Amino acid sequence: MLKTRVLRGAQEIRPSRRLASISPYAFAEVGKLVASLKAQGITPIDFGVGDPTTPTPEIIRKETQKAVDTRKSAGYPSYIGSKEFRVTVSEWLKKRFDVTIDPGTEVCSTIGSKEGVFNFHEGFVDPGDYVIIPTPGYPPYARGTLFAEGRPYFIPLLPENRFLPDLKSIPEEVCKKAKLLWVNYPNNPCAVCAPLSFFEEVVAFGQKYNVIIASDEAYTEMYFNDLPHSILEVTKEGVVAFQSLSKRSAMTCYRVGWVAGDKRIIDIFKKVKTNIDSGTATFIQDGAIAALKDENHVQQMREEYRAKRDILVKALASIGLPDCTPEATLYLWQRVPEGMASVDFAKRLLDPKIAIVVTPGAWISDKTETGLNPGEGYVRFALVPSLEATLEAAERLKALKS
Ligand SMILES: Cc1ncc(COP(=O)(O)O)c(C=O)c1O
Repeated sequence: MLKTRVLRGAQEIRPSRRLASISPYAFAEVGKLVASLKAQGITPIDFGVGDPTTPTPEIIRKETQKAVDTRKSAGYPSYIGSKEFRVTVSEWLKKRFDVTIDPGTEVCSTIGSKEGVFNFHEGFVDPGDYVIIPTPGYPPYARGTLFAEGRPYFIPLLPENRFLPDLKSIPEEVCKKAKLLWVNYPNNPCAVCAPLSFFEEVVAFGQKYNVIIASDEAYTEMYFNDLPHSILEVTKEGVVAFQSLSKRSAMTCYRVGWVAGDKRIIDIFKKVKTNIDSGTATFIQDGAIAALKDENHVQQMREEYRAKRDILVKALASIGLPDCTPEATLYLWQRVPEGMASVDFAKRLLDPKIAIVVTPGAWISDKTETGLNPGEGYVRFALVPSLEATLEAAERLKALKS
């Protein structure tokens, strides 16, 4: 019998160049900070990651539990989502944005938006193609681009432009070689909405340069005043919108969302999906249908976020920081004290007497061509701790009063 001698440590295990080229995921780093405080016996109030702590509403939990039994057999789910799910999505889009989406051809379910956003690039980006990405922004836009061997071109979101990207600032050569443009309103982390005229401008840009517009609309339901728009209100042509139930219905663990829009784009995305995964579990899609048919829990959630927002905005203003009242989302994009780096302010909040975890803006922002990091000078608070914990945080912030 042939004996193979295993020499431990002799084999070199290395990540791919693509993986090695990217920095650690910012929120994994936030997790480490929380763990280190806990190891010191301190319970931090964690405004770091935007993961709702409110329980998933009962109607959704009940429907999901029921579906596990009624569906009994556990065959692979549909790649593109069950017919009932796609029909419900289409009805919801009609009701909410007055857009008509064919459930048969213009929508595909996703395993939460993260998977869809990241893998989307595989369908459209060839090595060396540009993808235009707002910064600060949701990391999978850039990471998905890099994994598809594309080139991110970062456009800054700046307060002087109301945190909207200045499309005219993109060099002609980049526009011509770009395959995709990402937009995200209501915006994480800048917490602003975009007017419909902005979406019109974006669509015109896409048509002029033959660039697909991918609109990440994960926060359209988390608003405080006016109803946010969907890009689909402008057109479906050359456009897709990603939506997620994670924040709307506190379903981050369920992993369910969808992408809807131009049939030609959806067709290519479906092909990507059949090669990568097997769709969201059908009983989860049943829970999602129940979620989409109910708006009461979403209204309740908005009220809860509003109460927490008001407490924290006031507490931050009372220690001398500029007003950061968000228009939408579950985030506060707070300017740090003049002359201080975002990481230093975040560390200051980790002082055991304060023990508040936030995300430094510089960690969720990439540098632009000019070397500017537009997230520098900000920290992000995710309004996910309970109301009581938020009140406690407001109390602890008083320690920073100069
Ligand atoms: C801007 C944005 N898009 C998409 C997502 C993805 O959410 P999920 O994958 O849970 O659907 C998030 C989550 O934080 C987000 O902030």
